[in-house]
Amino acid sequence: MFGLPVFSTRSRSLRAHPSWMRTAGLVGAAMLLAVPGGAQEKLSAPATPPQENKPAEYVGSATCQTCHESLNAFEKSPHQILETDKKRGWDTKACESCHGPGSKHAESVSVADIRQPAKLKPSETNRICLTCHQNQATHVGRLTSSHDKNQVSCTACHAIHKNGPHGLVARKPAEINAQCAGCHTDVWASFQRPYKHRLPEGAMSCVDCHNPHGSYLPGNMRFVNANEPGCMKCHGNLRGPFVFEHAPVRLEGCGACHQPHGSVNPRMLTRATVQFVCLECHANLPGPKPPANGTIGTVPPALHDLRSPRFQNCTTCHQKVHGSYVDRDLFK
Ligand code: HEC
Ligand code: HEC
Ligand code: HEC
Ligand code: HEC
Ligand code: HEC
Ligand code: HEC
Ligand code: HEC
Ligand code: HEC
Ligand code: HEC
Ligand code: HEC
Repeated sequence: MFGLPVFSTRSRSLRAHPSWMRTAGLVGAAMLLAVPGGAQEKLSAPATPPQENKPAEYVGSATCQTCHESLNAFEKSPHQILETDKKRGWDTKACESCHGPGSKHAESVSVADIRQPAKLKPSETNRICLTCHQNQATHVGRLTSSHDKNQVSCTACHAIHKNGPHGLVARKPAEINAQCAGCHTDVWASFQRPYKHRLPEGAMSCVDCHNPHGSYLPGNMRFVNANEPGCMKCHGNLRGPFVFEHAPVRLEGCGACHQPHGSVNPRMLTRATVQFVCLECHANLPGPKPPANGTIGTVPPALHDLRSPRFQNCTTCHQKVHGSYVDRDLFK
């Protein structure tokens, strides 16, 4: 569904690096086997074959930075700690923790001699990041999200070299929303409906409900303790446990009746009016009409005359639609 935007992001980088199309295979092979660069280079440097077969070595960040001065902003990035902290094993050679040993490239200045994560397959880029970011509290290391399965790499959301500390992780709600909306344009369009969570105002963000790194729940939903839906973090008054539960609240989740991305109904219901939400499961219409979502609720008793306006707004009587402490019919 989001193939197009993703493709366009990647094709942009293809255009910026047209040489990739020609040399991708060679770059990949060079990295995996530490075999030296492209055929072109071999032709132009026939005199030193033995040296060419030696794997590249680490040269240190100072060497990289003599040519890549524009990347001195890196010093403000959280990854700078790799450069200075001896315990992590990358002190003085942080650049090469992601780009791999760079001696050959420092000599040849050929792009074929250095690992450029932006030109790798997302799964390969992710693997570089996860050598350090495995099993963190944020689940960044659990490759369960549909982002990972659909080839959206870490660097699609975390630009390593932009703006020091501020480009690396979007923190302000408005920044996060802009990032997500960049690919999920249809979801963002839902948030322009009249009743929605206040994301366009910057009061909340997508990651209040979703974990972009994945989760055990469908839809990358966040959850609070014991797998209860992340909605409870803010709507804890609906938590229960209720003496009389309304089955779908727990079994199907909030999405059975609500569209939290935005709705024309003031309570963000999936249908414009309450009765059609309820009648999807509690249909007493004649004839064979299997409920759309396969769940069968009870049929309202005959006293319900749905032609009468009195019965159309179900929640005027069944007020405790999320569950009741006292009443089986969810009246109070
Ligand atoms: C002698 C100068 C020099 C040194 C030293 C040097 N580079 Fe480069 N590097 C270049 C040039 C020039 C390019 C651009 C090549 C091009 O676009 O054709 C480049 C390109 C790159 C690229 C982009 C590759 C691509 O596929 O687009 C990366 C990544 C890179 N260098 C990383 C490093 C790292 C890491 C080091 C230190 C280990 C380093 N460089 C040291 C000159 C240097
Ligand atoms: C945490 C991993 C990481 C570290 C550390 C790192 N880089 Fe990068 N670098 C990347 C990624 C990923 C890209 C691809 C572009 C992006 O996502 O920002 C990249 C891109 C580049 C490029 C290509 C720039 C461009 O705009 O096309 C150069 C050159 C480069 N890095 C050099 C360096 C140098 C020099 C250092 C050390 C000062 C360094 N990198 C440290 C991950 C890293
Ligand atoms: C060699 C180890 C290493 C590699 C490889 C690495 N990182 Fe990091 N990363 C760190 C360290 C150390 C920090 C500093 C914060 C910390 O202690 O977690 C950090 C911080 C970050 C942060 C910021 C966290 C914050 O709270 O501000 C992000 C985002 C991040 N890395 C993403 C990436 C991505 C994306 C890649 C792959 C392109 C990558 N890292 C590769 C070690 C690494
Ligand atoms: C779809 C976008 C997206 C992708 C893909 C993504 N991240 Fe993130 N990441 C975010 C956002 C947004 C945040 C800020 C999250 C928050 O505030 O809860 C974040 C936060 C982080 C942090 C900081 C955690 C913290 O709590 O401070 C790290 C580290 C990180 N990501 C690493 C990674 C790594 C490694 C990958 C690839 C395996 C990755 N991310 C893939 C969007 C993404
Ligand atoms: C580079 C493009 C891109 C960005 C940026 C991006 N996504 Fe995605 N997202 C995708 C793709 C591709 C899929 C998988 C296709 C699908 O499910 O429609 C996906 C799937 C999802 C899903 C559906 C999960 C499922 O299992 O149904 C959620 C939720 C999601 N993304 C949330 C986010 C959030 C939150 C952000 C911002 C932090 C974000 N995305 C940023 C491309 C992106
Ligand atoms: C108030 C909570 C909430 C917020 C905020 C939220 N979502 Fe969702 N989102 C949900 C729920 C609930 C589902 C349905 C999950 C399921 O499959 O059970 C969902 C589903 C999705 C899906 C997959 C199915 C679909 O509808 O396309 C995507 C993609 C998605 N959300 C992206 C986003 C993005 C991007 C943002 C921010 C612009 C966002 N969401 C903000 C609650 C939220
Ligand atoms: C980060 C906190 C937060 C999370 C998480 C959250 N909500 Fe909300 N929700 C709010 C706030 C605040 C409002 C009040 C409306 C506004 O923003 O003006 C609201 C309003 C609502 C409303 C309309 C209530 C009314 O008074 O008419 C519904 C329905 C709703 N949320 C459902 C959900 C569902 C379903 C989820 C989980 C998918 C969820 N919310 C997750 C904060 C949250
Ligand atoms: C069986 C359908 C159904 C399910 C499932 C459901 N809701 Fe509701 N919800 C409603 C209806 C109907 C209303 C409007 C009640 C009214 O008209 O007063 C409502 C109203 C709300 C409101 C605003 C008024 C209030 O009672 O606070 C919030 C917030 C809300 N729901 C959140 C949630 C959350 C969070 C979940 C998941 C735990 C959930 N709902 C599950 C049907 C449902
Ligand atoms: C997703 C399906 C679904 C939706 C939508 C739904 N219900 Fe239910 N409802 C059920 C199920 C299943 C039961 C439990 C039936 C049982 O225990 O046999 C139930 C039980 C009830 C009960 C308790 C009576 C009983 O049989 O235990 C009432 C009253 C009720 N629903 C009213 C409503 C109202 C009002 C709405 C609309 C706001 C609504 N329901 C929406 C599935 C649904
Ligand atoms: C004017 C008040 C009122 C309205 C409005 C109303 N109901 Fe009822 N409902 C009742 C009464 C009274 C009962 C019967 C309680 C009993 O007999 O124990 C009932 C029972 C039910 C039951 C079955 C409970 C059981 O124990 O089997 C369902 C399901 C139900 N209603 C659904 C709905 C739906 C769906 C709507 C909206 C289309 C609705 N109700 C509107 C008053 C109302």
